[in-house]
Amino acid sequence: MDLNLKNKVVVVTGAAGIKGSIGETIVQHLAKEGAIPVIVDRNDRGFTYAEELQAKGIDAIFVKTDLSDASQVEAAAKTIEEKYGEIHALINNVGVNDGAGLDASVDDFMYSLKLNMVSFFAMTKFCLPMLKKAKGNILNIGSKVALTGQGGTSGYAAAKGGVFGLTREWAVDLIKFGIRSNAIVIAESWTPAYDAWIKTLDNGEEKLKSIVSKIPLENRMTTPAEIADQCLFTISDKSSHTTGQFITVDGGYVNLDRSLLTE
Ligand SMILES: NC(=O)c1ccc[n+]([C@@H]2O[C@H](COP(=O)([O-])OP(=O)(O)OC[C@H]3O[C@@H](n4cnc5c(N)ncnc54)[C@H](O)[C@@H]3O)[C@@H](O)[C@H]2O)c1
Repeated sequence: MDLNLKNKVVVVTGAAGIKGSIGETIVQHLAKEGAIPVIVDRNDRGFTYAEELQAKGIDAIFVKTDLSDASQVEAAAKTIEEKYGEIHALINNVGVNDGAGLDASVDDFMYSLKLNMVSFFAMTKFCLPMLKKAKGNILNIGSKVALTGQGGTSGYAAAKGGVFGLTREWAVDLIKFGIRSNAIVIAESWTPAYDAWIKTLDNGEEKLKSIVSKIPLENRMTTPAEIADQCLFTISDKSSHTTGQFITVDGGYVNLDRSLLTE
């Protein structure tokens, strides 16, 4: 299937994570489709990733940005505007499950909202003129935590809940411009950040086994590649009549009947 993403400018936030993280994987998949990936992140790995892609003849840029700072987000949008003028898709992927729970300070809670939700608003707001130009679309990366809770992570849970609200709000707001807005819901995907989290637990291996055994489809974690494939399909013209949706890519972990687990 040709996704028709060739030469389409696709902005991905939080895309300079360690290789195998979700944003980085999305960028690799975009490059394979001939799209133009724009990496927005604060980590210098983004320079290396952009250079690696350019060395393969792929038009890609890294825009170093602290996404928790709205003025830097505005500057990033300006840089993208000067270089490309329009955006086919904006994938708001940045997110850190930072454990700002009920015992955190109000400032830490506010920071979590800034990074995990306000950055989505700021990117979308400042990129909107370019999205309008290309009749582009928005894809927000959500989390099961907003639906199921996790414990100890009020900031992240609230922010991801807000991300679902914004997804539907923007679908309504932007329908008059033909701009779609959707969210991908992730539950348990094996990324370097997930690996790092498991390693912080005393009983990490046991916990991991327990989680994996409860994922109905094939008792395995979702791969970042499976998430990236769904993202590419959702931003492509092949999903041209899908808007305001929360698309769950989790092997049935959140929504299927729990009795499946005892069979
Ligand atoms: N892995 C999972 O199981 C899972 C589950 C649910 C949701 N998610 C969501 O998927 C997305 C990606 O997750 P991941 O595991 O690949 O994360 P990751 O930690 O590997 O990547 C996060 C990226 O955000 C960047 N970042 C952090 N703070 C920043 C800041 N202030 N400014 C700019 N960049 C900043 C980091 O440099 C990194 O590149 C997140 O939104 C996360 O909430 C993941």
